Amino acid sequence: MRRRTLLQAGAAGLLAAPLAEPKPAMAEPLRFPPGFVWGVSTSSCQIEGRGDRKADSIWDTFARIPGTIADHTTPEITCDSYHRYPEDVALLKGLGVKAYRYSISWPRVLPDGSGEPDPRGLDYYDRVTDALLQAGIEPWLCLFHWDLPQALQDRGGWGNRAIAGWFADYAQLMARRLGDRVRRWAMFNEPQVHAVMGHGLGEHAPGLHGSEPMAAAGHHQNLAQGRALQALRAHSDKFELGTVMSLQPVRPAQNLAADREAAAIWDAAWNRAYLDPLFRGTYPARFLPLVEKLVQPGDMAEIRQKIDFLGVNYYSPMFMRADPAGLLGTNWGALPVGMRTTAMTWGIDPTGLTDILSELRTQYGNPRVYITENGAFFREPPAGPSGRIDDQERIGYLRDHISAAHHAIAAGSNLGGYFIWTLVDNWEWAHGFTATFGLAQLDRATLTRLPKASYDWFARVAAANAV
Ligand code: FCB
Repeated sequence: MRRRTLLQAGAAGLLAAPLAEPKPAMAEPLRFPPGFVWGVSTSSCQIEGRGDRKADSIWDTFARIPGTIADHTTPEITCDSYHRYPEDVALLKGLGVKAYRYSISWPRVLPDGSGEPDPRGLDYYDRVTDALLQAGIEPWLCLFHWDLPQALQDRGGWGNRAIAGWFADYAQLMARRLGDRVRRWAMFNEPQVHAVMGHGLGEHAPGLHGSEPMAAAGHHQNLAQGRALQALRAHSDKFELGTVMSLQPVRPAQNLAADREAAAIWDAAWNRAYLDPLFRGTYPARFLPLVEKLVQPGDMAEIRQKIDFLGVNYYSPMFMRADPAGLLGTNWGALPVGMRTTAMTWGIDPTGLTDILSELRTQYGNPRVYITENGAFFREPPAGPSGRIDDQERIGYLRDHISAAHHAIAAGSNLGGYFIWTLVDNWEWAHGFTATFGLAQLDRATLTRLPKASYDWFARVAAANAV
């Protein structure tokens, strides 16, 4: 089963009422507090293409294994943003957003993962960053969005505790290079997805299976994050430092004791194994036995760091069932009867976003939060009268989630911004090019970017809230 592909049919639970049918796009965009940040997110592996990068990332290696990528494509070209980043910046400017979250390809700047940097890689991120600043767009840089140097995987990757030091060194290299221009730094993108999908279920690079590699990847990412946060904090007191998590409410597929326990286990492994160490310096009880052997004295103090923001990526809730043969005795369960889904078969439920934000408010000290990813893939409809793909379902999805974010602010959440995933249709990991999340379409023959109706719609939302 592909990433978070959830069963739709069968004996579903009845926990959530079916959502209403899509409504027309809101005529009057909601008003957000002054200074609310509107942005768009991308990631290096999904948009850059190889360019002149010398070294492989684990996704290059993984994509060469037959059967791993739905359409047998590789990240060799993707959107070729390595050469075409000025087109991306022009699109961002046209949208009127003031923030762009992108990530650094670690192997592009450090082909061996540590040691000698490649000046061409560093120059590239100079160029992108300067182009953004020139366009009046604030760079939000993410240090790790899953494309680990293969050279480090060959040394054990996230299974090797030494990676915490390699990561902190890499973070400092980037801070020295870009710290005069970049203020916002996110350490990780979704460490839980990388741990679970890449090291537990084998559906993402590096393709490992089992609870042990999963737990090691979890703990070592947490530790690396703590080390890098300390290093960057020491580098500059001007930095705004944070990290990005995929947070998803986990619900039992059916209202059975075994499914309730499966949901609690999964909630621990997915959400709390990352939130609790950072905010409380502890692992949740249901996850602790998996990492106990790895945690050394002092680790939890290093991991518990003050952050300036937490990035929340939200797409859907999860429905889990007990399954003795599944990872941690759990498995994806059926969605509630009648729940609408995107073409990823992810259930659509904007209240899941408000639930997550209210949990951060009540249980984790109401940290400063930015929604750093939200978006959807639906089968793309044909072009409308304007000549643009008329993606009303995407607009409906975005509108409903932006409204949910608005509710969360009214309820007291410390929410400061909202970023859409993503700018241009790109290489969606194991889905290859088959899952399109862009506000703009990618013509794969010419690599031209063609805005969709959602692009114009989001430009109006951002403009209505411009400060
Ligand atoms: C998120 C990832 C992002 C993209 C979207 C659809 O989990 O961070 O790279 O795959 O999902």
